[in-house]
Amino acid sequence: MARLDVAETFHGILFPGHLHTQDSLQLALKFPFQDTDIVIVSYPKSGTTWMQEIVTFISSRGDPHVSQTVPNWARAPWLEQIYFPAIQATYNSTPRVITTHLPHHLLGPALQGSKAKVIYVSRNPKDVVVSFFHFHKIANFFPEADSFPEFLNRFLEGKLHYGSWFDHIKGWTGQIGTMNNLLHITYEDMSLDLHGAIQKVSSHLEIPLLEEEVSNCVKHCIFSSMKDNKMANYTLIDEEIINHGKGSFMRNGKIGDWKNMFTEELNQYFQSIFEAKMKDCTLEYVWEEQ
Ligand code: A3P
Repeated sequence: MARLDVAETFHGILFPGHLHTQDSLQLALKFPFQDTDIVIVSYPKSGTTWMQEIVTFISSRGDPHVSQTVPNWARAPWLEQIYFPAIQATYNSTPRVITTHLPHHLLGPALQGSKAKVIYVSRNPKDVVVSFFHFHKIANFFPEADSFPEFLNRFLEGKLHYGSWFDHIKGWTGQIGTMNNLLHITYEDMSLDLHGAIQKVSSHLEIPLLEEEVSNCVKHCIFSSMKDNKMANYTLIDEEIINHGKGSFMRNGKIGDWKNMFTEELNQYFQSIFEAKMKDCTLEYVWEEQ
């Protein structure tokens, strides 16, 4: 496997080098979106895979066939990755579902003027950083994880792969009210009321569902079902890329796991940086901590 541990730097942001090149990233910024596209946008570890599953099930009205036969990276491919054009050529879903981790300051221009339906998924940043920390231990395309306090510092400084969480959240949620095709939904919304979250997404996508169809979506999108679905749980990925012996992608699936990693001192440190960096953000603190 070429370039597994080499990062590609694009506009000052690191991306895993085995999946991204300057060309693939550049192509993403010029992507001709269609008005019928569904675009799932997130910072890593915020519930991206979960939303891919939810959108798959809403599109199939609760029928599990696609979810159980097509891997999530083919049914909702990553726009900025090198395999995107090939996947698009072979797997043609209608409507097209596209996933991206790109920040708004990079992808915004390509979406301007488009009526593509954007779903922005965010998660309590404390749970994001904990989930990302554990993922670094099993994903061989990330540098070795430091101690948690060091990793947290790199997260707060925006030095991890995919860039700054603060830039990401501020950039995308700053579009609420400007982009009327943008839905912001949180991991916590999905956790606390999956049924309601699915209804919200189906209404945003203008795919009305019968009550029975929503219930089927819920049944297949709960953590235990997704953990067992090899088309969604990443166990199909080669051991060389994800060390499945060390841990699983579908790891914990809960709100508030940060409490097991943050000391009181780390929490206060996080809080002070968070408040300073979010000063210019109109978004209220929307992540239920439990
Ligand atoms: P944890 O590491 O906290 O368990 P992403 O897909 O953006 O990389 O996010 C991965 C995180 O979402 C992981 O969090 C994973 O377990 C969680 N996740 C995926 N599907 C889920 C589901 N159906 N319910 C709850 N959490 C889910």
